[in-house]
Amino acid sequence: MADLPDSVARHAPVPEAALRAAAAYAGDPWTPENPYFAQAEPVMARLWAELVHPFLRGCDFTCVLDLATGHGRNAAMLLPLARRLILVDIQPGNIAICRRRFGDDPRIAYIVNSGYDLREVPSGRVTLLYCFDAMVHFDSDVVRAYLAEARRVLAPGGRAFLHHSNYQGGHDWRAAPHSRAFMSQALMAHYARKEGLSVLRQQVMDWGGEPGLDCLSLLERG
Ligand SMILES: C[S@@+](CC[C@H](N)C(=O)[O-])C[C@H]1O[C@@H](n2cnc3c(N)ncnc32)[C@H](O)[C@@H]1O
Repeated sequence: MADLPDSVARHAPVPEAALRAAAAYAGDPWTPENPYFAQAEPVMARLWAELVHPFLRGCDFTCVLDLATGHGRNAAMLLPLARRLILVDIQPGNIAICRRRFGDDPRIAYIVNSGYDLREVPSGRVTLLYCFDAMVHFDSDVVRAYLAEARRVLAPGGRAFLHHSNYQGGHDWRAAPHSRAFMSQALMAHYARKEGLSVLRQQVMDWGGEPGLDCLSLLERG
């Protein structure tokens, strides 16, 4: 498939105020008291073993960034594999819970972020940017903003593992099945290429009994 010339591949950025509003709309419900966290924790080991870890084959876990880490159930799986683990979340209360969970382990950095950028993370160091069961709710503008940041923070050859929505039935994630945002397998691949990332593999999958609701994408910085 032919690529767009570089001169038209990049777009005018979405205004920061619009990104902030979109990030808040997706981020506000996930306060630490949300019952999701206690319900999700016990199923992580099975999801990791059966779904996530096999999809991550060939990835370098030297420096992992867990985007939208929540209460750290993914981080608990990643920590034994990583030399450096950067935990990022828009909700200060969730990062506080991760701090209590993992303490002052020198491998771990904790960041409360804007919800649309990774400005505290230096460029070119992350070998795996990881996001599971969170980007499914993100507005497509926020997804694209994070793709641009992934391109910046990833080391050459570094990868981004993104679990995202494949739902096009509506535009309000809070009204959608399993709170999925409008997004697709093809749109993710298109945005990734525009942000300078190549698509290594994608896997459409069912979620909560909804056929093809979600997609796993593995992207690479050349
Ligand atoms: C459904 S929870 C999933 C948490 C974790 N990934 C897991 O699997 O347990 C969604 C998480 O995304 C965070 N979040 C929502 N929007 C965000 C954004 N734009 N940027 C960073 N974190 C965000 C929320 O605070 C919450 O911790």
